[in-house]
Amino acid sequence: MNVLLLGSGGREHALAWKISQSDKLKNLFIAPGNAGTSTIGENINIDLNNFSSIKQTVIEKNINLVVVGPENLLVNGIQDFFINDTDLKNIPIIGPSKIGAQLEGSKEFAKKFMLRHNIPTAKYLSVSLETIDAGINFLEQLSSPYVLKADGLAAGKGVLILNTLSEATQSLTEMLNGKFGEAGKRVVIEEFLKGIEVSFFVITDGNSYKMLPEAKDYKKIGENDTGLNTGGMGAISPVLFANSEFKQKVETQIIIPTINGLKKDNISYKGFLFFGLMNVKGNPFVIEYNVRLGDPESEVILPRIKSDILDLFQGLANNNLNTKTLQISNDTVSTVMLVSGGYPQSYEKGKEIKNIDSVKDSIVFHAGTKIHNNKIITNGGRVLAISSYGKNINDALSKSYKNSEKIQFEGKYYRKDIGFDL
Ligand code: AMP
Ligand code: GLY
Repeated sequence: MNVLLLGSGGREHALAWKISQSDKLKNLFIAPGNAGTSTIGENINIDLNNFSSIKQTVIEKNINLVVVGPENLLVNGIQDFFINDTDLKNIPIIGPSKIGAQLEGSKEFAKKFMLRHNIPTAKYLSVSLETIDAGINFLEQLSSPYVLKADGLAAGKGVLILNTLSEATQSLTEMLNGKFGEAGKRVVIEEFLKGIEVSFFVITDGNSYKMLPEAKDYKKIGENDTGLNTGGMGAISPVLFANSEFKQKVETQIIIPTINGLKKDNISYKGFLFFGLMNVKGNPFVIEYNVRLGDPESEVILPRIKSDILDLFQGLANNNLNTKTLQISNDTVSTVMLVSGGYPQSYEKGKEIKNIDSVKDSIVFHAGTKIHNNKIITNGGRVLAISSYGKNINDALSKSYKNSEKIQFEGKYYRKDIGFDL
């Protein structure tokens, strides 16, 4: 079959890499893709915000299946656009409906969903400028630190954790007055959950689901989890503290109620669902839902999936995921993100990347790269994810680090402590 994959980051290179291994694949197109995806498929440079240019590509390239990488397309209703278009309605798309994508697109929607379906999560109150007094009142009842979340999509920058009540009150006021634009005109105030974070993933056709490997990502720019938040600086899978007892709790207390909740609420959902969890003394709580795979989590979980991913996608398209098998490798996979100097604040692009070809025992997934004058150059904050298989964490990480050292570009930075807490 002919597949169109939408997106341009490390997640999409990892998806392209996995899709390209399928016997069912005829041609793979990635829009817009990056320098890495161009080596395994054909990049198509279109503006993804323009759904009619996606439609044109689907028709021109005779596409049989569309895989959506990033959340904003889903939140903006790409799935609904396909279903409602006479030419596209029979072309399966991997990703939920616009209403399903609200699990990520609106923190308040997600909180109400969890409350309705009895899914463990932090206590909260959702407020707007009109109800700011109730918000301050709620903050006064909580104890430090205080968690404030912009309701809408904010590219990972919409969550503030404040140590004092006065900082929290001030930030709440600023957010509601437009500091985060439209996304922050409504704010979810949450109780702080103390524990260790872990990400779980399922793929679902809306009826049945399969659990993918879990992963831990490292969101802070600095070692020992210090400094600013990033999209993710590295990841490990599996996560050893997520033992079988914990996984059982995740499945019965979170995953099954979520899938059943979607059914009860009549929400059409075919795609990946990502559960950002906090392990609080052995009990899982949902911190957030994402309606897609994570990045850099994809760069460690996709390499652990042994089964044909297009076969699983066909299970979504044909509502028979329950007849498919999913095999997971017992290997550990680590990834280390090489980023541009200055990221997550301002950074320069266009630096030549050298020595990628010298990497033999890791997979180099491209995140922010492009080809310019036959050279691979940096084109984003997160540049490359260096993923490696190993017998255990140290074995995998030693390869990721050896190769992170080899690859060169001006301003290269990476965290040297990925997995430090495991
Ligand atoms: P989110 O975008 O909702 O995943 O939040 C970003 C990060 O903020 C999470 O990965 C957590 O590290 C942290 N966080 C969010 N909500 C909470 C909470 N209720 N308690 C503790 N930490 C939180
Ligand atoms: N690495 C976190 C995310 O993809 O949201």
